[in-house]
Order: sequence, then C-alpha cells, then structure tokens
Amino acid sequence: MAKEKILVTSALPYVNGAIHLGHLSGAYLPGDIYVRYKRLNGDEIIYICGSDEHGVPITISADKEGVSPKVIIDRYHKLAYETFKKFGMSFDNYSRTSLPIHHETAKEFFLEFYNKGLLKEKKSLQFYDKKNNMYLPDRYVEGTCPNCGFEEARSDECENCGKLYYPSELKNPKSKISGEVPVLKETSHWYFPLGEFQPRLEKYINSMNEKYGWKDNVMQYNLSWFKEGLKDRAVTRDLDWGVKMPIKDVEGKVLYVWFEAVLGYISSTKEYSEKTNKPDLWKDYWLDPKTKYVAFIGKDNIVFHCIFFPAMLMAWNDGENEKYCLPQNVPANEFLNFEGKKFSKSRNWGIDGIDFLNLFPADPLRYALASNLPENRDTDFHWKEFQARNNNELADILGNFINRTFTFVHKHFNGLVPEQFNLNKADKDMLKLIASYPEKIAGYFEHFKLKDGTNEIMNLAREGNKYFNDSEPWNTIKTDRNKCGTTLNICLQAIYTLAELFEPVIPFSSEKIFKMLNSEPTSWKKSGSENLPAGHKLNKAEILFPKIEDKIIEEQIAKLGTDSSLEEEDLISYDDFMKTQLQVAEVIEADNIKKSKKLLKLKVRLGEGERQVIAGIAESYKAEDMVGKKVIIVENLQPAKLMGQVSRGMILAVENIDGKLEVLTVNKNVKNGTRVT
Ligand code: 2FM
Ligand code: ZN
Repeated sequence: MAKEKILVTSALPYVNGAIHLGHLSGAYLPGDIYVRYKRLNGDEIIYICGSDEHGVPITISADKEGVSPKVIIDRYHKLAYETFKKFGMSFDNYSRTSLPIHHETAKEFFLEFYNKGLLKEKKSLQFYDKKNNMYLPDRYVEGTCPNCGFEEARSDECENCGKLYYPSELKNPKSKISGEVPVLKETSHWYFPLGEFQPRLEKYINSMNEKYGWKDNVMQYNLSWFKEGLKDRAVTRDLDWGVKMPIKDVEGKVLYVWFEAVLGYISSTKEYSEKTNKPDLWKDYWLDPKTKYVAFIGKDNIVFHCIFFPAMLMAWNDGENEKYCLPQNVPANEFLNFEGKKFSKSRNWGIDGIDFLNLFPADPLRYALASNLPENRDTDFHWKEFQARNNNELADILGNFINRTFTFVHKHFNGLVPEQFNLNKADKDMLKLIASYPEKIAGYFEHFKLKDGTNEIMNLAREGNKYFNDSEPWNTIKTDRNKCGTTLNICLQAIYTLAELFEPVIPFSSEKIFKMLNSEPTSWKKSGSENLPAGHKLNKAEILFPKIEDKIIEEQIAKLGTDSSLEEEDLISYDDFMKTQLQVAEVIEADNIKKSKKLLKLKVRLGEGERQVIAGIAESYKAEDMVGKKVIIVENLQPAKLMGQVSRGMILAVENIDGKLEVLTVNKNVKNGTRVT
C-alpha cells in the first residue's frame, strides 16, 4: 500500500479531574495503537493531543475548592501528562488550550466567521446572580422542573424527565453560587448557523462513509442528529474563564468551549511546529488535501467531531482561505464500565489511571484494555479479568513461549540462533503462518478493529507454543540436534514477529523482547520474514510478565465502593446524617396516577397523622399490593409536586438484579413512626 500522510488526534481531555481507565480505553489507547502501527508501517504521521482547559466543569471544580481555575488546570494538566506518559502514549505533542497560541487560533476563526457575517447575534433571557454580578451558566442554576416537578432541574433542561424549556419557565430558581434567587436579564449571543450546513454535512459524512467505511455506531449517532434537524448553536458564553470574545466593547464573554476546544487540535500542531523549528509543518498536515485525518474520541463527543467541527472547517474553507482538511474517519468508541457500573468518583467506583499505574506496569493494563475495547458496544473492566489476561495470556502464553525458547537456546546452543536444516511440513507451515501475520493484523488495524487484531496476535503465540510442543525439542536435542536447532530457529523468528506486531499494544514489553533478541524492529511488512540470521547472538532472557497474585486483586476489589478514598467534600458529618428523619410508616391506601406509568399515590400513617407520598414504584408493585406494608420513609423531606400531586416524604427502596424496585419493609410489630437509627 502506498505510504500515507496521516494526522491523528485524540480528544483533548477536560482537566478538572484525573484520567480514569474509561478515558484511556475510549480515546487514548486506540489512538496510540493505531499511530504506533502506522509508524511501523512507514507512514508519515503525527499524533496530536492536549488538555482542554476551559469550560464550566473546570470553573465549578475551582469554585468548590475556593481556588482559581488556573490552580485546577495546572494540577490536572500535570497529572494527565504524567498518566499518559506512564501509560506509554506516544503523542508527538501534548498541548494546553490555555496557551496564547491556542487563544490566537480560536480568535482567528471566530473573527473570520464574524467578519464574514456568518454569525447571527440573538438576544435571550438568562439568569443573573446580582450578588456576584454574573450571568449564570446552565449548570449553576437549580430549580423545579415545570414539567415533572423534579427539584434539581437545570435552568433549561431537566435531568429527570429530559424536557427542554426556557429559563423563564423554571420554577423556584436558585443560584448555586450565592443561594439567592437569580433574576432574568437580557443577554446577547452569537450563533453559528449549523442548520444551514446540514445538506453539506450529510453529503460529506455519506461520502466518507462510502469511501472509508465509518463505524456503524458513529453513523447511527450522525443519522439521528440529521433526522432531528441541526439547529443554530450559540458560540459565545457569559463567563470569565475561557478565550475572550475578540470584539470591541463586548465584555465578560468568552467563546463556547466546544467552539475553541476542537481548534485545539490545530493550535497544538502549530505549537509542535514551533517547538521543532519547522514553521510549515502544521500546514503540511492541516492544509494538504492529501492528509488522512483520523480523530479518536468517545461516543459523547461524536456530534462535535462529525458535525460541529467539520461545519466550522467548511465555513473557513469557503472563499479565498487556505483549505483545512476535514476528518476522514472518526472511529469513536462506546464506553468502558467498571465492574458492571459507570465510573464514579463520588461513589469510589473505578480507579484513576495514575493509581493503577502506580500498582502495575502499563503493558498488562494496555493489553487487558485492548483485548476488550468498547468498539461496538459498552464493555466492562473486571479486576479478575485483568488478572487473568496477565497471568493466563501474557505470562502463560506469550511469556512462556519466549521463555522456554530462550532457555533452550542458551542452554544447548550457547545463546546463538541455530541453523535450519531439512524443513518438514510442520516447520514450513509455521514459517508460512508467521509470514502471513503482518498483513492479517494490518487488515484489522487499518479498519480500527484493534480489539480483534490484539486477540489475533496472541493467537500467533498460542500457535508458537503448539509448534514447540509438537516438535518436542527436549527429545530431538538428544536424537537429532539439527532438528532441534531448526525448531528453535523458527520459534525465534516467531518471537521476532510477535515483538513487532505487539509493539503498538505492549510497547514496553516489545522493547524488552527486542533487547533480548539483540535486534530492532523492521518495517511492519517485513516483520513476518526470517529476521534473525543463524549465528546471531541473543542476550539474556528476562521475566516479562510477573504473575499478579490473588491478594493484590482482592485488595482492590475490597476497596471499591467503600469510603476510604472518598474526598472530604463527599463525606457528610454525623450531624448531617442525623438531620435525615427516617421513620416507619404503614401504607393505608394506594392508587394509580392517571397518565403515569411510574408513580403510585400512597397514603401512609406515621406516629401521628397521615400523609400523601408519591412513589416511583408502579412498575414494580400493583397499588393493592402496597396496602398494609410497613415501609421506611424520609419524613422530613421538603414537599414536592409530582404530576400535579403533592408528595410529602420519600419511600426507601432498592433495585434488585432484574431492575425491579423492592421497597424496604419492617415487621408488623414495629410501631408506626418509629425512627430508624
Ligand atoms: O469530553 C471531553 O473531555 C472534552 N474535553 C473533549 C474535547 S475534544 C476536542 F474538542 F478538543
Ligand atoms: Zn422534569
């Protein structure tokens, strides 16, 4: 295949927290495997990334800690950098969106669109915190949903029922910063006419899909956006933190984080150009129509990379400007879950990359993640599976094959690659198999089937062990030394091929194997040839994959979901807990609520008096089954309205493994109103 010029990017991570295994398996390990493979293939390639240092989540973290956003981004940028380094990410450049070169690039794009008259200014009402003199981003306002009564709804969207509404419709709005009632104040924002680009975007995506075969999951997302119809998007925000809006007399506004973050790929490449003293390098990639641009991301970023960013580049490319290349493929992944649930910092569910890498070397993690990538559907990380991948595959299959071959050659052939004599069918078949592997694996990697490719490479090591066993060198060394030498020669050629093909997945181990072989990688294509001549001197073998003991895995499992590593702010005091009044209540009446599949209306008796509670249990209980049950309720919860009905209290329930709710109950001989302690 002709050599290609390739630009690869991985999503710029928000640096408001640590990188966890889900991030690594979504956008980073896949990018790194692809890039390392392409480098060995001899393609001209650069790999670009950096920290996304703007956006509301960062300002929220800063507010929570009472520090400036700069403190947060400096801390987590450093941590992200260290995590990626330890994990073996081979970025050519890892930049930051707080750098001047990024601010300039983002402003240049904004001004181009602004001056062309592409951006439309629209006025709208937005919540304003008078105490702090600031407009409140959506996530800074909390109130009651006008649709379902959920009390923690955001200013324009309810997380509970999914309804979108205008801020003026939100009930009981409260500023999360001051706790005060915010006022609605008019503000202006500039909108990018995404809707106008829909026909061109559809054409672009369909033609890329036809030519390069985009992943089904990615196409599904795109189609659903198109079906809904693209809407104009505000590209400015009323915030202090970010890229300042480059317009005279406009104060307190920044560019929308997604508008500028995607341009971070360009500014990071520019920074790389500067660092390497090659001023035109970034243009050689971004402005050359022959460049193959591949963007690695997680599924939550699809709309921004397949739709929003290409539309921005199209808008720039219109007219006299130099032309940027658009993504040729966006092989987005689904999510990795952790032991069956979503990663959650506050529930201590999951593990940060850096903590993992302080416990184990990178390669077992890279291999375990690669062999289970969420390429087509969400997958799960399990500690036990990680242990098994290391012990039963890396150690017992790959490590064992290498170790037994080296031991034999050092013991009986003085550490020199033996000669081949009179190949029999098994020898020839093995050499043929080795020779077929580079192309076979390239077939997977070229099409972003990195998981299947990884598992297939391990099959070559399996075949190597089988060939070794069937050839019985422990017998032939006594009966036919030349036969024995032939077997070992072929095993060593297989080890060379494995070292090269596995380089993208387990680069640290690959380097060690090449050192043991006293050799270096060749081109991907040639890696299946016989690369070790007879008489070549090998180095000493070293242990490649120490086994991971049960104890250390059990310790990690035991830590999950416990409070040992909860952050201070996630803990509540004893007094906080005691504020929650949990009491025993008897259900005396139960009815369905019209038009609601989920809710039941219950009348319950506490110590004194009765009250109405609306409970979301109708999919698990019939109304009549609830009557007579002694349940636990949160007695001192603020009243809420659900489907027009007042609810005073909440019933405790758990979800069982079938997804049904089970209401917590106590014996009939516990008195109504008894406090749960
Ligand atoms: O999801 C995220 O972490 C975003 N910061 C990704 C941005 S990718 C690109 F736009 F920079
Ligand atoms: Zn709602």
